[in-house]
Formats: sequence, structure tokens, C-alpha cells
Amino acid sequence: MTVPSQEGSVDLKRNPGGSRPRVLIAAELESLLPEDPLPGYEPVWISTREPTPIGDYVAVIPLLSRRMGEEELAGLPDLEVLAQCAVGYDNIDLAAAARRGIPVTNTPDVLTDSTADLTWALILAVARRMKEGQDMLAQGAWEGWRPTQLLGMELNGSVLGIIGAGRIGQAVGRRGVGFGMRILYTDSEPRPAFERATEAGRVDLSHLLAESDVVTVHLPSTPDTRGLFGAEVFSLMKPGALFINTARGDLVDEGALLTALDQGVVGGAGLDVFSHEPEVPPELVFHPRVVALPHIGSATTKTRRAMAELAVRNALAVLDGREPLNPVTG
Ligand code: 8YV
Repeated sequence: MTVPSQEGSVDLKRNPGGSRPRVLIAAELESLLPEDPLPGYEPVWISTREPTPIGDYVAVIPLLSRRMGEEELAGLPDLEVLAQCAVGYDNIDLAAAARRGIPVTNTPDVLTDSTADLTWALILAVARRMKEGQDMLAQGAWEGWRPTQLLGMELNGSVLGIIGAGRIGQAVGRRGVGFGMRILYTDSEPRPAFERATEAGRVDLSHLLAESDVVTVHLPSTPDTRGLFGAEVFSLMKPGALFINTARGDLVDEGALLTALDQGVVGGAGLDVFSHEPEVPPELVFHPRVVALPHIGSATTKTRRAMAELAVRNALAVLDGREPLNPVTG
């Protein structure tokens, strides 16, 4: 039986004493959410820096930075749902959650456009050598206009290679049409609607690497994809092509990328993600041909609010016995 209370509705069957069941939620989300975001539940705000506590929490709403493995789950015997506030969920041990029958949810769709926009910010910045131009001015080293100064890549007529044509990869490809690029993509399945909208061609990885002037990665981090972008892949790229990653840092062997940049095999890189965040290899960050950002793909006010709200709605759906909006199926 559920009765309204001053604090929201309280399930008296689950809480005979009338106290509200507790939900562990990332403290960094508090300012993005309305007051009392989980009516009927007591939010317990936890910062990324703090380890996951042991307790009677019925839901956890974590960020990507919180590892949720077997050990953390063992300390949460009452857990009913893990509502990730991110589209990726590589911090969560899905098998361990499944063994406990705990549904996992994520926040797709709401961050597609913001992440695709940031991918394009990187493509444009690297193609047009904006960092080198800005550094030249900042160092007082500009001696005047020169016809051959900071010549970059003309995107119109160039080939954009999209590795992973899910929601974000496709949104990046649709934007590429506006820049006059020919689109190639790899994916485990054909994407006919995307192909109709963009005239994109589905090819295998080596074909894409050989043909693309800009290679942009939109894959999840899984045992199959981690470390995929190493010396061999870079050596198959068209010499001087650009490499963009707004997906996951651990897809890339950062040492191999640095070597490829230094050898001119890769002409420039735009990186929003790193293997061991928040640690970043200074050699990449300070490299003149690298534009590096602190994982801000989805960082617009609209998107971050929508992500936080969607994560909460997913948690509430499961807690209230309804189907989650965005179940992660593995
Ligand atoms: C988030 C992301 O900013 O959603 C993802 O998978 O990588 C980013 O959009 C971050 O992971 C929030 O936890």
C-alpha cells in the first residue's frame, strides 16, 4: 500500500516504519536536478571521490567514474536498480548485476547532438590547425599574414570515416554532409536509413582507414574494442589523416598515437577522452597537432540536465515496478 506523506509517497509494505528508502546518487548531479528529485525516496548524495558505501540503498544513480563491480554490489543487498547517468556503462559489471537480477539503465539519445557537435568542434579545430594558430598569437610569434601559413585540410570533398555508426556516429555523419564530405562507416550492422540520408558507404575497417581523411571513433569500450587503435591501425591510415576520439580513451594505445603523430603518419588528433582519466599524457596534451579536452562531449546545460533527469526517471520506473525507459541489455 502506498500512502502520500509530506515527503512524497511511501510504500508502507517496504517501509513499515515510514522512513523513505534511500537512493545513492552522484552529488555532482544535485545542481542539475529539481529539489526532491526522487519523491518518496531519500537521496543520499555521494561525491565521485568517495567510495561506494555499504548500505540499504534501493537504487544507485552513478556517474561513469564510479566503478560498480561485484564487490560494490555485494555491499548493497537491497539494490533494485543501477541507473547510470551516461550512455556508456563500462564502469558497470553487467554480468554481476545480472547475477543479482538488478536491472541496469543508461541515458541514450539526450546526449547525441551535443556529443556530435563536440566531435565536429574537434574535427574543425584539428583540420584548420587552430591550436597552432592560437599559440602563435599567444606567444607573440605572428609576423604577419603569409600565403602558406598554417595550411590545413579542406573538408569539402574529403572523406569522413566513422567507426561505429550508432546514434552518435550517425549524428556526426549527418553533420558531415553539410561540410561536403563523403561518408564511409564501419558497423556490425548495415544502417540503411543513415545511408539514404547521407549516401554513406559501409566498408570494412582497413578500407575505411585507407580512404578516410578524417577518422572518427564512436565505439563503446568493451573487451573487443579496448586498445583497438594501436600501431597497426594507425599504420593503415591514409598518411596525414586526422584521428578524432570522443568515445572512450581506452580504445586507444596513447603511446602508439603519439608515435604516429610524431612520425606524421597521423596528421593531427582531437581527443576528448583518455585511457586513465583524469590523468592525461602531457606529450599528447601539449602536442601542437593535438586538441585535447577534458571529456566534455555531452557538456551542455540542456544535455546534462536531460541526462540527470533521465537517469532519475529510469531509477523511479524500476522502483515503482514499471518498465525502465532505457534498459541496458548488454
Ligand atoms: C558523460 C559519457 O559526460 O555518456 C557517456 O557515456 O561519456 C559522457 O557523456 C559522462 O560519462 C557522465 O558520467
